[in-house]
Amino acid sequence: MKTVHSILAAFVLIAIAMVVFNAVMSLKREEKFKAGDRKLGLIALILTHTQLIIGLITFYISDWYMELRRLGMGGAMKDSEIRLMSVEHPLMMIIAIALITVGWSKHKKATEDKAKFKSFVIFYGLALLVILSRVPWAQWFQ
Ligand code: HEM
Repeated sequence: MKTVHSILAAFVLIAIAMVVFNAVMSLKREEKFKAGDRKLGLIALILTHTQLIIGLITFYISDWYMELRRLGMGGAMKDSEIRLMSVEHPLMMIIAIALITVGWSKHKKATEDKAKFKSFVIFYGLALLVILSRVPWAQWFQ
């Protein structure tokens, strides 16, 4: 489960980055919102939602959850590694996935092409920043 979570993380990051880059370039070039733009946003949405489910399972079977239960929230917050893995990473990833979901539904409701791209830039872009700030880089590349 941890291996799947670790590999899927790379696809999630690449997909979100592609959505944001594509939306920024399309806004600059004043392009129409095409089926391909929608598909890219949808792929990133599906990948992140899959990662959410796998992440939740990974969390409940991980040693980090055990540590959190053993130490309690107060104790876990005192150790930076335990805090990152048992509280900050799961919480911030859930927030990022919620931002992507909001971005997707806002793009669907928008009627203008420009507004559709803008909702991808803002919400997927914010989600990307949140994810990048709380990915356990050291552990990932160990
Ligand atoms: C955008 C979504 C997410 C991304 C990009 C992501 C990325 C990662 C990465 C790169 C690792 C390190 C893997 C390794 O050591 O090889 C990791 C570990 C972990 N993630 Fe996520 N994650 C996401 C969502 C979540 C969610 C939603 C949860 C739980 C609610 C979660 C819980 C965990 C846990 C518990 C670990 C540590 C696993 C262990 O060491 O046993 N992740 N994540």
